[in-house]
Parts: sequence; structure tokens; C-alpha cells
Amino acid sequence: MLHHVLTGELTFTSLTPPDLSQCSKSDLLAYFENSYSLNESLFTALKDESVFYKCPDRLRLPLIFYYGHTAVVFVNKLALAGLLKGRINFEFEKMFETGVDEMSWDDTENYRMGGSYKWPRVGEVVEYRRKVREVIRDIIRDTPLDLPINMKSPWWALLMGFEHERIHLETSSVLIRQLPIGLVNRPDGWNYAPKQTECLPQTNQMLSVNGQEVTFGKPTDFPSYGWDNEYGHVTCYVPAFEASKFLVTNGDFLDFIRAGGYSRPELWTDEGWHWRSFRESKHPMFWVCNSGCKSGCGTDLAAYSHCSLPEGGVGETATDANYK
Ligand SMILES: [Fe+2]
Repeated sequence: MLHHVLTGELTFTSLTPPDLSQCSKSDLLAYFENSYSLNESLFTALKDESVFYKCPDRLRLPLIFYYGHTAVVFVNKLALAGLLKGRINFEFEKMFETGVDEMSWDDTENYRMGGSYKWPRVGEVVEYRRKVREVIRDIIRDTPLDLPINMKSPWWALLMGFEHERIHLETSSVLIRQLPIGLVNRPDGWNYAPKQTECLPQTNQMLSVNGQEVTFGKPTDFPSYGWDNEYGHVTCYVPAFEASKFLVTNGDFLDFIRAGGYSRPELWTDEGWHWRSFRESKHPMFWVCNSGCKSGCGTDLAAYSHCSLPEGGVGETATDANYK
């Protein structure tokens, strides 16, 4: 297990966000440590250090980028906010600053995905993360706390860093999940979702929602961190629609695929169909069929397929019989 990538504790339990109208420094410190540790804990799932240099998705950078990136964004934002004087490692603070959008047109930084690009060793990035953790602890200790914290407060840059760390929990979880299964381990203390085989999924109902005018937008004095696009107010008319009462199950989605859902553009938005066509998807990314579908991985994993080939050849489309 790659426990040496941890600069704090191994944890898979998240704290709730602090109330910015009445939090203490110890609340903020605990939330920071938890955010930072959760992110590092994900990377203990990688089988060995070589996996940090793999691209699980051809539109994303290697995993080492995501491990270093969140610490670098802390440093760069804290420097901009005037809370940090000087730099910790300026080379890293350029290399790990900007990622790549998961868009087919965003190939501007493909060179960082290539085999000739020299990423630092994992140990160097671990040490960088350790230093950044210490620096942030010092800033939390030394910065006077005036409540409530709002976007004019110097603490806003810290809160942004905490939430940015958490945004990347999702990015990195998905990327790690996209790896060939042989490149990941179950982390210590990780619990698989319980199986409830005796409980059949309930039949999903569609619920009608009447057309109405809605207003959305976050008030500026709401006591939690918000990204800039959450503020302001927009009022618009939403026409009548239906929504399912429960989450869509895999079984429901299998019905959609059996009905030819992945070959009927009229069932998709234009943007969705364009994406499906670009990815050559025949089913959700994490499903496994026996048609040998493309995995969508990059660099040396590009030829890999999560889906296995059937005996006697490859079918044109995934059909009932292809799903195990
Ligand atoms: Fe980011």
C-alpha cells in the first residue's frame, strides 16, 4: 500500500463544511487537514509509483499531475491573496498549476501526456505536499480571524483551496476508477458498498412538475464558501417536465441500451450525441461487455480495453447477449 504518499492521516471520512459566520480556527484547521488528507488517501489505491505516470483518460493528464496540483493551487492563490510571501518550488508552481479541460478540442497541452515529458519523482511531490501542509497550518495559526468570513476576507483564498481540494476528490476518484483494475488496490479501511441482493429495486415512477417561474442564486451572506458562478440571481420560466422519483438503476439503464439507446440520436441532446460519437460509447464507461470497446485511456494505456472480446469476433454493437 502506498502509505508514503500521505502527509497526514489516512481517512475516507469527510467533515461537513464550516459555518463561516461562527467557526473557530480549530474548525478551519480540522476542515483543511481533512480535505488535504482525503485527497492523498485516494492515491493509496494505486498499485505502485509507476501508476502515477499513467493517463487513465486520453483527455486528462497523468495522475501525478492531480496529486501535485491541489497543493500548487493553494500556494498560488495564497501568494495572490498576500497570505504567503515567496515561493516553495516555483518550477512545480508552474508545472502543476493548470490542468486540461475534458473536452475533445482541448489538446493544447498534449505534450504533458507524452512519454518524453519529465514529471518529477513521486517522492519529490510528496515532500512538496508536506511543506505546503505545514505552510497552511502556519497561515491558519497566524492570520487574525474576523467573523463572518466572506469574499472580502483574506480567509476566502484558504476556503477556496479547501473546496478546490474537494473538487479534485471527484476528478481523481473517477480517473483512478478508469484505470485497468490490475493497477489499483483496495485502500486500507475502504468499505465496498453493501450488497442487498434480497431487496429488489422499486419500480421507478415519473413525477410531473408543473411549469413555473424559478429564481436561483446564492446570497452573498450565505455562510459557506461559494464559487463565483453561484452568486447573483437569475429568474426564468421552466416549462413542465417529468423526473423519476428514485435514482435511475443499472437495470433501468440496461433497458435503455436494449432499446437501442446508444444508436438513436433522437434520444440525445446534440451535445450528448456528439460526445457519445466522439467517445464511441456503446454503454456507460464503467460497464463491461464482451465487444472489446475502447477504454478511452491515453498514452501507454491507449490500446487497453476494459471490455473483453467475445469468442469468434467482435460484434458491431453491444446487444443483450454482450452484457454479463
Ligand atoms: Fe483544479
